[in-house]
Amino acid sequence: MQDKLLQLKTNALAAIKLVKDKARLEEIENKLLGRKSGELTELLKGLKELAADTRKVVGQIANEVKTEIESALQEKQQELSTSSWADALEKERVDITQPALPAAEYGHYHPNTIVQRDLEDLFTAMGFMVLDGPELESDYYNFTAVNIPATHPARDMQDTFYIKGHGQNSDSPWVMRTHTSTMQVRSLQKYGTPLKMIVPGKCYRNEATDPRHEHTFYQLEGMVIDKGITFSHLKGVLEAVAKHLYGEETEVRLMPKFYPFVEPGVRGEVTCFLCKGKGCRLCKNSGWLEIFGAGMTHPNVLKEGGIDPNVYQGFAFGFGLTRLVMLKYGISDVRLLESGDLRFLEQF
Ligand code: DAH
Repeated sequence: MQDKLLQLKTNALAAIKLVKDKARLEEIENKLLGRKSGELTELLKGLKELAADTRKVVGQIANEVKTEIESALQEKQQELSTSSWADALEKERVDITQPALPAAEYGHYHPNTIVQRDLEDLFTAMGFMVLDGPELESDYYNFTAVNIPATHPARDMQDTFYIKGHGQNSDSPWVMRTHTSTMQVRSLQKYGTPLKMIVPGKCYRNEATDPRHEHTFYQLEGMVIDKGITFSHLKGVLEAVAKHLYGEETEVRLMPKFYPFVEPGVRGEVTCFLCKGKGCRLCKNSGWLEIFGAGMTHPNVLKEGGIDPNVYQGFAFGFGLTRLVMLKYGISDVRLLESGDLRFLEQF
């Protein structure tokens, strides 16, 4: 019995020493001291069969063994709760044999954003600022400030959404902006001259939508105001954009067109990139694609911006960013761009 007790002690202490987590410690404690079938408990039950004097000696040893085991357990318990390095190690374990997880699905830019960023890079390289502006805009900045007074027929071409409760009864009601030209006067007032800026952004019009018309679309406005700016500067910048978009051999042609905020005004066309000017379905056999409007900034616009038109001149241009996106990717229905349809968007 004595031997058994000592053997049990040696084994128990060795086992306790090796324990690295609390669960295992509890398991060992149960195995040794469990009330029902713990190994030590069982041994102690045998004490009463011994002769009185042996019982006394063995009983004492048994008590010592029990105390030693209990204190070893307690010590280990403390060690595990103070330094939980074992737990920490376990948490940090990396299974280097685990097969690679399937690649996560990454998001990507909307085609509008891809084209917009490309042009922002081009224009910033030419020294232009990139400006943002409010989409809910005053009637003043959207129309009046850019030389489209209240009764001007040019307003009919850009019907939009008038917003109730935003000064509708005041002199300058609020509208969802119909173009990014709104920023012409805002930027002159804020930054003065010399000024070189572009404004990419969302615009709105009250349209009966079809494959070529949408109530929400994107434009990229630009303006340069300084001393001695001429029409040649305008053409130079527009040619740089055209060549950047469609290649070195691309040409620009300017045809007279009325826009209230410029004088003279032009519509700008570039060599059709698909047929290289020979004529095809995309350019309706003309060999040319219309992609922007432009002109020399009207003196009234400069005056609204607080600039003296006798000292400063400049030009402005507006690209149909949405049109550029449709041309670039061969998109035949403009409504797809704002549809949020993933089957469409995942192609880009
Ligand atoms: N704002 C015009 C539009 O929405 C586009 C435009 C034409 C902008 C001529 C200009 C410009 O700056 O000079 O149709």
